[in-house]
Amino acid sequence: MYVNNRIAVLKICLLFLSFIFDITANPCEFNVKVEQGIHNEGFHRNITYRILFNTEEDEERWLYRDCIVGLEQTLPPGVYTNPDELGDLRRTNRLNAIPKNPINIELPAEQSDPSTVYVMDNIRHNEAYLWLPVHARYHQAVSGGSTARNEIEAPKLYLRCPDQRLELCNKAVVPSISLLCNGSSKEKCSWKVIPYTMMTDTLIWDVPVGNTDHYYIVAVGTSVVIVVGSMYLLKTIHEYKVGLRKKTL
Ligand SMILES: *[C@@H]1O[C@H](CO)[C@@H](O)[C@H](O)[C@H]1NC(C)=O
Ligand SMILES: *[C@@H]1O[C@H](CO)[C@@H](O)[C@H](O)[C@H]1NC(C)=O
Repeated sequence: MYVNNRIAVLKICLLFLSFIFDITANPCEFNVKVEQGIHNEGFHRNITYRILFNTEEDEERWLYRDCIVGLEQTLPPGVYTNPDELGDLRRTNRLNAIPKNPINIELPAEQSDPSTVYVMDNIRHNEAYLWLPVHARYHQAVSGGSTARNEIEAPKLYLRCPDQRLELCNKAVVPSISLLCNGSSKEKCSWKVIPYTMMTDTLIWDVPVGNTDHYYIVAVGTSVVIVVGSMYLLKTIHEYKVGLRKKTL
């Protein structure tokens, strides 16, 4: 009985101590800024992310040195990444990006779901520059035509360091998550979710939607071209034959 009591008291003390430790643990002042942009024109574009791990103060720099940054980008149904293209980029060491789930690149936007892709890179000189090639899905044509708006939400940011340094941060500030280590292996690693400030606007991509009304115009136009073209061809052949006959006469 006496021993049990002592253990209980010890447990309470430990609980109390770990509580005190947790709230006084290093809060790890993250000062991360992200600038995103979407480049090129048409149905194939390039999203870029510039991630700045600030810092002027030397005592914060240890937090990021030699770490790997990972982005989790969710794309709306109207936008996709091509898994084969990402595979080529990985194999040639140009980009470490991998889709979270299989992606069907053939489907029109109406039959697609949002998809998620991971992009990773090392931090160099307190900075990481990531990019992602993206493509627009076709939308089913509607009468009158229009544009479909794709709004690309801000990515989630993760950090993975070669040691346990992030474990020293307050758990509430940097919760852990188990994700792929990189695109080249199926192995999972423990990443930390890092808060950041987005410095640029939400990415908006308006995609033109075909006009079903145009189909009739196109069909009529095509027929006219075929008829006129055939008549012109027949006329030319006829003239050629007449010319030949005249020559031989
Ligand atoms: C996207 O932009 C990045 C950075 O400017 C560049 O390195 C990359 O080659 C571009 N990719 C494509 C597919 O245009
Ligand atoms: C990917 O992660 C695995 C497991 O941690 C590691 O062995 C491999 O070297 C990594 N590859 C690259 C290209 O970083």
